[in-house]
Amino acid sequence: MNYRHAFHAGNFADLLKHAVVLDLMGRLTAAAGPLSVVDTHAGAGAYDLTGALARKTGEAEAGIARLMADDAAPAVFATLKTAVAKMNAGGGPVRHYPGSPLLIALRLRPGDRYIGCEVRPDDGADLKANLRGQAGAAVRLADGWTTAAAEARAAAKAGRRLFVLIDPPFERGDDYPAIAEAVGRVLAAAPAAVIAVWVPIKDLATFDSLLGDVEDAAADAVKGTAPALLVSEVRLRPLDDPMKMNGCAMLVLGAPAGTEAGARAAADWIAAACGGPGAKALTRTI
Ligand SMILES: C[S@@+](CC[C@H](N)C(=O)[O-])C[C@H]1O[C@@H](n2cnc3c(N)ncnc32)[C@H](O)[C@@H]1O
Repeated sequence: MNYRHAFHAGNFADLLKHAVVLDLMGRLTAAAGPLSVVDTHAGAGAYDLTGALARKTGEAEAGIARLMADDAAPAVFATLKTAVAKMNAGGGPVRHYPGSPLLIALRLRPGDRYIGCEVRPDDGADLKANLRGQAGAAVRLADGWTTAAAEARAAAKAGRRLFVLIDPPFERGDDYPAIAEAVGRVLAAAPAAVIAVWVPIKDLATFDSLLGDVEDAAADAVKGTAPALLVSEVRLRPLDDPMKMNGCAMLVLGAPAGTEAGARAAADWIAAACGGPGAKALTRTI
C-alpha cells in the first residue's frame, strides 16, 4: 500500500468528490430514517497542506486555494467552504483540509452511523485521532470492499438506509473490477442503497468500460429496474496522453432528485477554474 492521500488532498479531484458527497449527505439527512454510511477507502481524515507530502505536489494550490478565493463559486460548494473555513479559523492560506470521513461525520444526525475503512496503520491511526469525539463515527482498520458488502447486509437487516462511498487509490489495476463487484454485492443486499464512486480519467476506453461494468453489475444485482447512473466528469485537458490523470469523475447510483444539478455546477466550476486549454465538464444521467 504505497498510496498516500496527503499528496493530493484539496486538489481538483477532492473538490468534485467532496462537493458531491456533501450534497448527497445534505439530501440523505433531509429525509426521514436512520442512515448508515460506509466509506470504503477513508484515508487519514484530515490533512496538513503545509506538510512535506502535500508541499511536494502543490496540488491544493490549484484546488481548494482557488475555491476559497472565489466568493462567487456555486452554492454546491458552500458546505465544503464552511468546513474548511472552520478548520482554518485563523485566516490566511488554507493549511488544514478535511477528508471524506470528517466531512461526512459532520453531517450525521443522532442515530446515523459512519464507518470509515482504512488498511494503512499510519493513516488509520490518524483517522482515529481525527474522528475522536464525532458521534456515530467509527473506524475499521479493515478492507473496505468486504466491509461494504457486510455492512449492506447489516443495514438491510436493521431497516437502515445506506450510503456507500467508494474511493480507491487505483494504484492496482484490480480496483476497476473490484468497484463493479462491490456495487453488485451492495445492491444485492440493499437495492435502495446510494453508491458514489470516485474514478480517475486517463483514457476514454478504460473509463467507458468501467461505466459499462458498473451498469451491468447494478442491473444483475437488482434483477429488475437498475438504479440510474449519474456521471459527472471533469477533464482538465484533452485526453491525449493516457499515462496522465487527465481528469476525474464521480459516479452515483440511486442519486436523490436534484443531485445532478449540484454535480453539474461543481464540475463546471472546477473545469473552468482548475483546467487548462481544452478543459471541459460533462454531467449526465444514463
Ligand atoms: C483516495 S484515498 C481516500 C481519500 C478519502 N476518501 C477522502 O476523500 O478524504 C484511498 C485510501 O484507501 C486506502 N486503502 C487502499 N486499499 C484499501 C482497502 N482495500 N480497504 C480500505 N482502505 C484501503 C489507502 O491506504 C488510502 O488511504
